[in-house]
Amino acid sequence: MKLFDVYPLNNITISRALGSYVWDDQGNQYLDMYGGHAVISIGHTHPHWVQRIEDQLKQIAFYSNSVIIPLQQQLADKLGKLSGKTDYELFLCNSGAEANENALKLASFHTGRKKIVAFRKSFHGRTSLAVAATDNPAIVAPVNETDNIVFLPFNDTASLQKYFEEHGASVAAVITEGIQGVGGINVASDDFLQTIRQLCNQYGSVFIADSVQCGYGRTGKFFAHDHAGVDADIYSMAKGMGNGFPIGGILIAPHIRPKHGMLGTTFGGNHLACAAALAVLEVIEQESLIQKAAVNGAYMIEQLKSIPEIRNIRGRGWMIGFDVPDEIKDLKKVLLSEYKTFTGEAKPNVIRLLPSLALNKEQVDNFLHRLREAIKFIQTDNPSS
Ligand SMILES: Cc1ncc(COP(=O)(O)O)c(C=O)c1O
Repeated sequence: MKLFDVYPLNNITISRALGSYVWDDQGNQYLDMYGGHAVISIGHTHPHWVQRIEDQLKQIAFYSNSVIIPLQQQLADKLGKLSGKTDYELFLCNSGAEANENALKLASFHTGRKKIVAFRKSFHGRTSLAVAATDNPAIVAPVNETDNIVFLPFNDTASLQKYFEEHGASVAAVITEGIQGVGGINVASDDFLQTIRQLCNQYGSVFIADSVQCGYGRTGKFFAHDHAGVDADIYSMAKGMGNGFPIGGILIAPHIRPKHGMLGTTFGGNHLACAAALAVLEVIEQESLIQKAAVNGAYMIEQLKSIPEIRNIRGRGWMIGFDVPDEIKDLKKVLLSEYKTFTGEAKPNVIRLLPSLALNKEQVDNFLHRLREAIKFIQTDNPSS
């Protein structure tokens, strides 16, 4: 049987990983500035995370949500403590799309309304409503198309205000990333997020902060939206939450009330996933990884600004993007093949840096060296590039 061919693959087989490095089956070591797509939060195969999963596996890996699973409450308590959202409630699921799907559904249940405001260049996942709220027609199947979603320009408070003045009473939710990831590292302005908060208050709509990529400490605060000093009504989370163990969830403000059967899942919140997620939060706390992400990410941004060949350096913490001009368009490819460095990308010409929050200053300097060398390599017109 063949694999369904939906991924353009690098011809590399990763067989081992530790911290911010991975190794292929030929023994080559790579610096991982991509974090397996913003998933690796505390570092690959962190010993505490491995130990906690191993210990849990020997006790019980899974039982359904028909019984009490104390690890879920422990996770909720720890999440409340680290995020500061102590009065929010937690619903657990398995992925980012599922988290957003549940957030949107919950907003609609809560308000009794149907309209969702999303923004240009947004990405919210591939399930039915999450993909409909994603600004990429190529991944929206005919069956996912719906008039219930409206796309407004990102960071444009005037058009948001105008939309609310005309249609506010029918808006169930506004959903936005704090920093757009797939869209190319576009930082939501404080003013924009504050306006969303104010309009949602005024019209009784639900503010959904998609924190699947930009959350969990990646930007130097627990949620990227925290930089604007606003609280959303629902935060969706996944990626960094399990450091590679599949888990997602939503944090729900206390005015949104649950009902039995309203949401549900077979696998969400299972013992093993909760153990992995608890290990992640314990390491984030013990190793001060959110503070480290803020400091080392800011240092990286400053240093990148001194490289004239790359443009428009932007982001926060470990969510950084820059434009790659045409003259060095093969930069990502060369970084990987010649300098054994994984980076992320956003179409058409953006390199995204999404490493583990534990990436240290020495590794930042090491990456900057590789980047400068890769640019030189391309500029010397090497035939293999
Ligand atoms: C902002 C954002 N939301 C949602 C998702 C979907 O997450 P998942 O792939 O876990 O379904 C992603 C994935 O890249 C994302 O970046």
